Amino acid sequence: MKPRPRPSLPRRLLSGLIGVVVLGLLVFVNQPVVAFGSAALHDFTINRDSYKQRYGHWARLPVPAGFRVNAIHAALLSTGKVLIVAGSGNNRKDFEAGTFRSVLFDPGRNTFSEVPTPTDVFCAGHTFLPNGNLLVAGGTKSYEVLAKNITHAAGVMKIKNESPAGGPRTFPKGTRLTGATGLAYLTRTDVTVPAATAMKHGAQVTTHAGEAEVWADAAAEGDAAVVDHPAQYAVAGLRGPDQRNIYGVSDKITREKQEYGGDKTSYEFDPRTERYVRTGDMVKSRWYPTLAELPSGDVLAVSGLDEFGRMLPGDNERYVKDQRRWVDAPRLKRVFPTYPALHLMRDGRLFFSGANSGYGSDTVGRTPGLWDLGTNKFKVVPGLRDPRMTETSSSVLLPPAQDQRVMIFGGGEVGESAVSTPRTAIADLDEATPTYRPGPDLPQPARYLSTVLLPDDTVLTTGGSSGYRGGEYRGRTRSDLFNVQIYRPASNRFETAAESTVGRNYHSEALLLPDGRVITMGGDPLYDPAGKDPGAFEKRIEVYSPPYLFQGRRPTAGAGPSSVQRGTTVDFATPDAGRVRAARLLRPGAVTHVTDVDQRSVALDVTPSAHGVALSIPKAKGLVPSGWYLLFLIDDKGVPSAGRWVRVR
Ligand code: CU
Repeated sequence: MKPRPRPSLPRRLLSGLIGVVVLGLLVFVNQPVVAFGSAALHDFTINRDSYKQRYGHWARLPVPAGFRVNAIHAALLSTGKVLIVAGSGNNRKDFEAGTFRSVLFDPGRNTFSEVPTPTDVFCAGHTFLPNGNLLVAGGTKSYEVLAKNITHAAGVMKIKNESPAGGPRTFPKGTRLTGATGLAYLTRTDVTVPAATAMKHGAQVTTHAGEAEVWADAAAEGDAAVVDHPAQYAVAGLRGPDQRNIYGVSDKITREKQEYGGDKTSYEFDPRTERYVRTGDMVKSRWYPTLAELPSGDVLAVSGLDEFGRMLPGDNERYVKDQRRWVDAPRLKRVFPTYPALHLMRDGRLFFSGANSGYGSDTVGRTPGLWDLGTNKFKVVPGLRDPRMTETSSSVLLPPAQDQRVMIFGGGEVGESAVSTPRTAIADLDEATPTYRPGPDLPQPARYLSTVLLPDDTVLTTGGSSGYRGGEYRGRTRSDLFNVQIYRPASNRFETAAESTVGRNYHSEALLLPDGRVITMGGDPLYDPAGKDPGAFEKRIEVYSPPYLFQGRRPTAGAGPSSVQRGTTVDFATPDAGRVRAARLLRPGAVTHVTDVDQRSVALDVTPSAHGVALSIPKAKGLVPSGWYLLFLIDDKGVPSAGRWVRVR
């Protein structure tokens, strides 16, 4: 639905009678949509207490001009602040100027602050570590170049060194490589090629050439320099045996589009000092990787485009948290599309829901399944309807995590397709042979839907668009969705919630805040609302207050330990012990491209204690990975307390 113009009309003109009529109509159509009538009427309606109690309430967050950044990534830190990361923010000028942004929003005080951002973390991966730091790895090394802007043919040149003597060799930017036809190519950056390694197998010695890759651009413009087959190139300036031992090889040199290139920089963002702290680099450069926390607290980085914009062919790697460095994981070779949604299950396996975002083969690696990291075996989970529409889907581990059920929402065909689906599906991973079963359809086909776990065991779904990046869909020039739903696992139904007022599609995100509200940010439409000019990045921020915030007095989660051990029972004070029925630990979200594999809601057993409640923390690391959580107490009406930060060890 397109945003409607809102003519101003003084609210005092409205009589209570009109309000009653409108409410009657709302009950009749059973959805909070302004089907007709004035904007003022709409305002009047959505601000009534009875309306908020049923549908919740949206508010625009005032953001000072200096802090309106392109929100590409967002994470809720254990200080209660929201880290909003743009990096270069999908803005070529900012990238070329080296302008990289991150800001912190404090929802308790409604204040913003700037965070120095050393490199371009745009489209990095991230996840929380057991110590509460946010691991941020990968990002952008280079922006894409469209075919129409490529004047000089270019390709990735592998420089090989077959000599074990002489150590590594560095060739400066602009080094000339000449093909058999005499055409010349110039290296785009400096490149250092290691010496060959000699290995003895008994009496036999095998030499493995040292090699390094670098972009090379044709010295002359035009198609004459295109080479559509593998070929060898001589490196200028070499003498003697070097001429034989050191040479370039390239699969092809083309004038095709050059994709974004990944970066290998890695940081732990420390919520206490509010700074990025550099760690060891990644083994591979990665653009659009997913970082998945493992039961040990280490992290697996999966998928992405390499520094030359090529899909990584299944190379994955592990972050060793105690050493703050990345190591190759050659035994876990497996191909996934970019930003694969990998949910950690109780037994330590990762469930690939099928949801992903961005790039990858349209045939290989898109099948949902359970990935056993001990054996690298992959057990396919069948049954997903619209299996070709998992790009730009979102998925969550449904609350509570003990149920081991994952739900996937919407999605579209691979690439710039206008086709998307309203499909949802649920897989119960505790079954002997898990299968996706249909869930209720969304009201409309949706890509880029934000899905947020709420503390009352429901899931908020908001934003998204039906078309590719908010673009054309079934004749509409702008296809952003304003309908908002709350999915209730207990009844397996969507309930209609108040409409949002800002369209959000690609590069948008939503997070649960400690007080139980939800913040939504970002949106990167392909076109403006008229469907013509390039769209402007959506910088407005909204905050949604769910219906549970309008039901009267909330229970209070009082004093208790700030650190708890898995498998123990701990006391928390509360004046509301008599009406507390449930307790949940919610792991804070860390979201980008509507992919958030961090969020999970863990049920705690509740028994009365002397001054409050005794809460039992489950034992399984795969259920409650170490880290910071928000503790919510939930009363007999399903109303949650405000969250209280607790560290699980
Ligand atoms: Cu992106």
